[in-house]
Amino acid sequence: MGARILDGAAIARDMRRELLPRVADLTTRLGRRPALGIVLAGDNPASEIYVRNKMKAGDEAGLRVELLRLPATAGADEALALVEHLNGRDDVDGILVQAPLPAPFGPAGTRAVFDAIDPAKDVDGFSPVNVGLLTQGRPTLAPCTPSGIIRLLERSGIEVAGANAVVVGRSEIVGKPMALLLLQRDATVTICHSRTRDLAAVCARADILVAAIGRPAFVTADLVKPGATVVDVGINRVAERALAAALFAGFPERLAEFDRRGSAVVGDVHPAVRAVAGAVTPVPGGVGPLTIAMLLANTLEAAERRAARG
Ligand code: GUN
Repeated sequence: MGARILDGAAIARDMRRELLPRVADLTTRLGRRPALGIVLAGDNPASEIYVRNKMKAGDEAGLRVELLRLPATAGADEALALVEHLNGRDDVDGILVQAPLPAPFGPAGTRAVFDAIDPAKDVDGFSPVNVGLLTQGRPTLAPCTPSGIIRLLERSGIEVAGANAVVVGRSEIVGKPMALLLLQRDATVTICHSRTRDLAAVCARADILVAAIGRPAFVTADLVKPGATVVDVGINRVAERALAAALFAGFPERLAEFDRRGSAVVGDVHPAVRAVAGAVTPVPGGVGPLTIAMLLANTLEAAERRAARG
């Protein structure tokens, strides 16, 4: 039997609809719309698309979204000045610096820019203050992708408490906060990474398997326990036909789409996992829309907290 498909797009639509009255209420109280400032440095084509989607979603939610661009040649000083400017603006409730920053920033420059964001406006939940609060299980702005996945599991009726949850990938954006959020909800959590011994044996115990590695179709059917819930965080563009043909064997409609477009977006989970898993998130239409819905929710949350503080 094929796995149940967890419709992230539909859940994200519900979440976004539920924000509307809260946004309207806060807009009345503040006399302005809750606002998100997005910093986009350089001209990374994928970032352009992500930011455009975030702006459109913010607009539809009734938020004001302000885009502040920096040229690819900008240095960390200019980015820091922009973040400080947004920190000081009373009419900006949330700040998002789109990652990755241009290569010349390097890890130290990137870290300095993200660290400069006021934790109260840190809608990505990346600041050390917010990560610390999350680690202690205290209320905070938590990273959008893992928060969205928790909403997806809750709204899909998937039991987290007591489950063996395995997170493959240890990034600051997804893997680590995902593990913390699952732990907070009483899962037994294992984080796997490139040095994990016998990945297959660890994954085989997972009732909930979260794949956040960034490698197309990395999680194959033999890694998945029959009946498990498999959450696919990957967004990988595949352009080689031979790879597409191998991945989409048994999915002729996806191969036909590849041939029409010349490329396809593939998750970190192999399509054949659907034959083994109990439930899977699709790519596209699974985790991606939830990430955007959570960004809107975090922006509203930041605005409500700032309003409550006066
Ligand atoms: N780039 C890719 N994903 C993200 C994200 O969640 N937040 C930010 N700021 N940049 C990203």
